[in-house]
Order: sequence, then structure tokens, then C-alpha cells
Amino acid sequence: MGTESSEPRTATATTVAPEHDDWWKDAVVYQIYPKSFNDSDGDGIGDIRGIIEKLDYIKALGPDVVWLNPVYASPEHDNGYDISDYRRINPQYGTMQDWENLRDGLHDHSIKLIMDLVVNHTSDQHEWFQQSRREEDPFTDYYIWRDGNPDTPPNNWESIFGGPAWSYDDEREEWYLHLFDESQPDLNWDNPRVREELYDMMHWWLENGIDGFRMDVINFISKAPGLPDGDPDADGAIGSEHFIDGPNVHTYLQEMHREVLQHYDEIVTIGEMPGVTVDEARRYTGTDGDGLDMVFHFDHVGIDHGEHGWWDVYDWDLEELRDCISTWQTGLQEDGWEGVYLNNHDQPRMVSRFGDENHHYASATMLATLIHTLRGTPFVYQGEEIGMTNFPFDREDQFRDVATLNRLHEKKEVGRTFAELKDVLQYRSRDNARTPMQWDDSTHAGFTDGEPWIPVNPNHTDINTDAALTDSDSIFHYYTDLFQIRKQHDALVNGRYEVLMEDDPTIYAYLREAPEESALVILNVSPDPSLFQLPEHVDAEQGELLLSNYDVTSAGIDGFELQPFEARVYRLQ
Ligand code: GLC
Repeated sequence: MGTESSEPRTATATTVAPEHDDWWKDAVVYQIYPKSFNDSDGDGIGDIRGIIEKLDYIKALGPDVVWLNPVYASPEHDNGYDISDYRRINPQYGTMQDWENLRDGLHDHSIKLIMDLVVNHTSDQHEWFQQSRREEDPFTDYYIWRDGNPDTPPNNWESIFGGPAWSYDDEREEWYLHLFDESQPDLNWDNPRVREELYDMMHWWLENGIDGFRMDVINFISKAPGLPDGDPDADGAIGSEHFIDGPNVHTYLQEMHREVLQHYDEIVTIGEMPGVTVDEARRYTGTDGDGLDMVFHFDHVGIDHGEHGWWDVYDWDLEELRDCISTWQTGLQEDGWEGVYLNNHDQPRMVSRFGDENHHYASATMLATLIHTLRGTPFVYQGEEIGMTNFPFDREDQFRDVATLNRLHEKKEVGRTFAELKDVLQYRSRDNARTPMQWDDSTHAGFTDGEPWIPVNPNHTDINTDAALTDSDSIFHYYTDLFQIRKQHDALVNGRYEVLMEDDPTIYAYLREAPEESALVILNVSPDPSLFQLPEHVDAEQGELLLSNYDVTSAGIDGFELQPFEARVYRLQ
């Protein structure tokens, strides 16, 4: 964050000193989904002590930052994205003392800790909502309530998880808005008291020594006045044009920066922003913007959605993916910053989706090369570093995710069967990312001594960290190499992005040009050998090979054939 702060508040815990203001640009973030990382007490659910047990593993991988998905008190309908108390740890994950130990353990290993900030909505079990539904002062307007006929929702908005975005509350006899599950009522950000409460809570966590926030769906917080009907033919959930990047979002985020963020010099903030445009992203993260450090956009992970959305699996091609990535890379080149990812807890596994399980090592490392050589801060989601894949779901009772189940139930209500929908569910479900971390080849992959809350992928017998750590040619070790070359070559962090061979159907190549040196990245995004040809305008004949996922001997870079999913990174001289 900026350094124009008045008195920085002092953190009560040890923090890791950054070397420069925008230290997060050359950092790598490792994302931990606590429920599925490591279970220390045998209840089948990952926990904070389980993460502490794995600190040496995390250190061996070498990220600068850990982003911890929600561990707050929650009924866990949406695995912690439904918070019932922002200042308590869910006993399922441990105690506040455990959390402090994790914070200190990470800091002792020179790893920063960022937490999820989920403030578009709370759980319906949060005491604010309980008091709001009883219309108790001052909570009456903490949420978005509308009166009206119990049979007709106030408008046609759809929940992101399927079904209407409104539920009728029998106690208050009014409708409340929930852009996600009905157990996740949206907070009313137009109420200044709500904003103050949230800012106080943010101060509390920052004073507890965290190093920043990943802000959940933060571009949804401001809804259009009057909550007008949405266009039923528009892309995405109906009504989304009235809450994505809504009318007051910049005002509120600037206020949040003034009231909270600017008081902490060394923190990082990442806005998760479904539907955000490049221009809006610049307003959020650019100079004179709202003061966020980076955005997560969704354009590239929407690439396999057809015109009918989630249920419509679209067979994308490289040209579309490259255009999408290039639009963002060039759009934020002068100003603004993005978090770069192909995986997270909401996305199917990247090898299964963008790569090829039959070329497991090559495609996983090729995709990793892409993430770590684009302009932006790379995010690695747990298990990605060993090439974890999608799960072979074939029964309804194997799914846990509320979004998957809500969508399935909606279809079943209109007569569709699980068997008909299975293929899409298997491909698309967020549960693909949430199966337990694979530590070894034992029954539950070393994740738990109990019964895991979600099935373990049967391929843990081959794909696990034990195997990866002992094999010096594993995907894991390729990741550690990638982390290092990015640290050693500023061109990979700050260099300008210029795409090459822009129409090629299988080769994705680009330059990252910095004043001192440039890098050339060449990726074969296909299972077939493909030819690379250096365009004439690029003035270089020799390159120093920094990294490749195949054995490469020649230093000539003017043209050559790449193997299936081959990746090469050269430093240009
Ligand atoms: C974000 C989270 C997702 C959650 C949703 C609602 O997209 O990443 O897991 O379900 O917001 O909080």
C-alpha cells in the first residue's frame, strides 16, 4: 500500500520487513484452503495446527506470502465464506492461540500472512442478521431488505449459485438480498454504520499482525439504487449489471483506504472481482485509483463457458485464451496490477482443464511457466505444485460444494437427472479443487487419520508430495526453479509484455522487455510437436536458457520444434 500514512499502527506481532514499497510485485503467493490442507486431530477436516505441521514443506516450496482461506466462525455452508463472527476462529479449525502460532510460525520463516476479507455478505447466523431480522436498533438496515408480496421477489436478480437472489424471511416478513446462497445475506454498504463496523474489524486483524487481505467479491458491494430488474439476456447472473462495479464502489473503497489501509505501510490488498473490466481494474489498482494493490479478474477462467453459462462447456482454443490474457497484460501495462492464477478453491484443477492429464508433467509445468512469467503476482493454489488433478466424480453424494449442489437441485426440480448432468458437474465443480491435499500414497493421502470430509483423489498413490520431494525432476522442483528465476530477473516481474506469433494455433510466445535485459517465453500449448519461429523484428539470435521442462541444448532461438507442452524461458542478450 502507499506510504502516505499518518502514524502507522503498531502490529502486536512480529512482521516481516519488506524490501520496497511494492514488494508484492515480485512476491509469490501460496493459497491454503484450510479445510483440505492437513488434519492434525483426526476429525477428517483440515485445521490450523495441521498447517503449522507443514510449515517446513511450505518453506521448502518458497512462497513469500500465504493467503489463508476463511477460518472465521461460520456454519460453513460455503466453507467459511459465510461468517458468523469476524473476530473468532471456527473451533473446527482451532483456537485464536493456534492462529497466532501460525502467524508467528510463518513470520519466523519470513513468510507473510494474508487473510480473506468477506464483507459483501455475512452468514445468516451472524448476530447482526439475527438482530436485523428482528428489526432491532441499530441493525435494522444492516442488510438489504424489501417488503412486498411473499410470492414475488422484489426483482428478477439471480444468485451467482443459481436460483433467485432473494429469500423471504418469515420473521421480519420481508425479502432479503443474497447474491450467493440464501445463508449469505448481503450487507448494506450504503449504511455508514455497516462500513464503520467493517473498518473496525479490519483494523483489529491488521493490528493482530496480518500482512493484508484478499477481498472476496469486493466489486459487488455497491448495488444500483432502486435495485432495478436486470436484463434477462445479459451474460452472467441476471441483474449483475446492477451490482458488478456498482455506483458507489470506488467511493467506498477509497473511504476504506483512508480509514484503514493507508495506516499500514507494508500490507498488500487483492480484490477478487468477478466481471471486472480492464478499465475498472485500473481504477481500483492504478495510480490515483482506490488504493488496492491488485485485482483477480475472471476473464480467462470464463473461457470455457459457452453462451448458456455454467452448464455450457465451451471448447476454447489458444487464440481465445491468448487474446484474453494479452488484453489484460497490455491493459494494465502502464498502470495497475493483477494477481495471475489458473487455480484456486473455486476453479477446477488447471492440468485437467487447460493442460492434459496424459502429458501430466509437461502440461503442468508449461502452465506454471505461463503463470510465473506473465506480468502480475503469481498465485499458486495448494496441490498445484504437485500437479493435482480433477476428481473422477461419478456419484451425487461425492459432492460437497453448495454452489454445485444448488445448481444441481435447480435442474432436478425441472426434471433433469444427475446422470444427464454428471459430465458437466465433474468438469466444472469447485469440489475438484477441494479434495484433500495429497501428502503420501497411504489410504487418505496422509491428510487425515479419520474419515476425510470430501473424498481423496485416487491418484494420490502417484501424485503426492512425498514422491515429488524425492524426485529432483518433479513438478514441485520446477516450481521452486520458477520462483527463483522470477526473483533473479526483473524482466519477468516488471518487463513490458509483447505477444509474438499472435495468430499461431499452438504456440504462445511473448517477450518481457526491461531496460537492462529481456526475456523470451515460448510455450507449446498442445499435445503435438509445434514449430516456433522468432519474428524478424525481434533483434536477438542467442538466448541464455533460464528454464525448460525438457532437456534443451541449443542456444539458437531463431526457430525450432517444441515437444508436446514444452516450455522455454530465455534471457535475451
Ligand atoms: C468468492 C469465493 C467463493 C465464495 C464466494 C462467496 O468467489 O472465492 O469461494 O463462495 O465468493 O463468498
